[in-house]
Amino acid sequence: MEVKTICVIGAGAMGNGIAQVAAQAGYDVYMRDIDDKFVERGTEAIKKSLARIVKKGKISEDDAGKIVGRIKGTTDVKEAVSKADLIIEAATENIELKKKIFKELDELAPAHVILASNTSTIPIVIVGSSTNRPDKVVGMHFFNPVPMMKCVEVIKSLTTSDEAVKVAVEVAEKMGKSPVVVKDSPAFVANRLIVPFINEAVFALMEGIADSPEDIDTICKLSFGHPMGPLALADLVGLDVLLAVLEILHSETGDPKFRPAPLLRQMVRAGYLGQKAGRGFYDYGKK
Ligand SMILES: NC(=O)c1ccc[n+]([C@@H]2O[C@H](COP(=O)([O-])OP(=O)(O)OC[C@H]3O[C@@H](n4cnc5c(N)ncnc54)[C@H](O)[C@@H]3O)[C@@H](O)[C@H]2O)c1
Repeated sequence: MEVKTICVIGAGAMGNGIAQVAAQAGYDVYMRDIDDKFVERGTEAIKKSLARIVKKGKISEDDAGKIVGRIKGTTDVKEAVSKADLIIEAATENIELKKKIFKELDELAPAHVILASNTSTIPIVIVGSSTNRPDKVVGMHFFNPVPMMKCVEVIKSLTTSDEAVKVAVEVAEKMGKSPVVVKDSPAFVANRLIVPFINEAVFALMEGIADSPEDIDTICKLSFGHPMGPLALADLVGLDVLLAVLEILHSETGDPKFRPAPLLRQMVRAGYLGQKAGRGFYDYGKK
């Protein structure tokens, strides 16, 4: 199946990144969110990201204009899905919300359309089973920031067809990514490894093992060669997203090693969600 038009559901950190790389790859893109202000914020983020690429001399200003021109932002879900061949859902990480979205997409999208989810943790079989086309539901897990990170985990659930996997792999490759096919399992591979590592860094901070987030991040950068420490990474990803990943890992496996650090939960409750909120483990100035 040839994909020409991609619809992205959600214009947040991941949705706008996916819309950008899809448009850069030459696809026509619809980017849908629930409110104009989120659509506008997502469009602005894409323009800023492209401006940085222009500044680096990798594309011309004219190219950037054409890329933006291929993205139509909308709040109208019917309009967003009507011409799509592939829909990539990147809405808020919440099982009930994703099930509702996939049910709606299944009702509205033409029969041939493949439905992909960018979920970090939710088993693809769960979102697939809320549709009448579970064979056409696949995971496409991009990484943050999407324009920079090369990996895409393509997730094949028990019900996903080989054809849906093939389409997801081809589209990811056309976007300049390196897809890796993995089995459907809570948090898949990348987050199953990195999220408990970040959680342990929060425990270390909470227990006062190091004096500050900076100290923990410095140790990890200098001893593991990581470009960014776990607490700065937590702020980039979003503390609410991390907590959701841990809760799903914990409830799906029952394994106490995945219990969220109480400090992480408190910070989410306080609204200290990281960069997007202006404050997380580090202070980014008020938003
Ligand atoms: N943040 C990360 O580093 C990261 C990395 C990989 C995957 N993910 C996954 O990507 C998804 C999105 O994460 P994010 O960080 O972009 O979140 P975000 O909070 O930045 O954006 C989510 C967006 O979804 C929108 N939304 C909610 N309900 C919607 C609906 N019914 N239709 C359309 N839009 C809707 C919200 O208004 C919001 O703009 C989650 O499933 C998350 O687990 C996140």
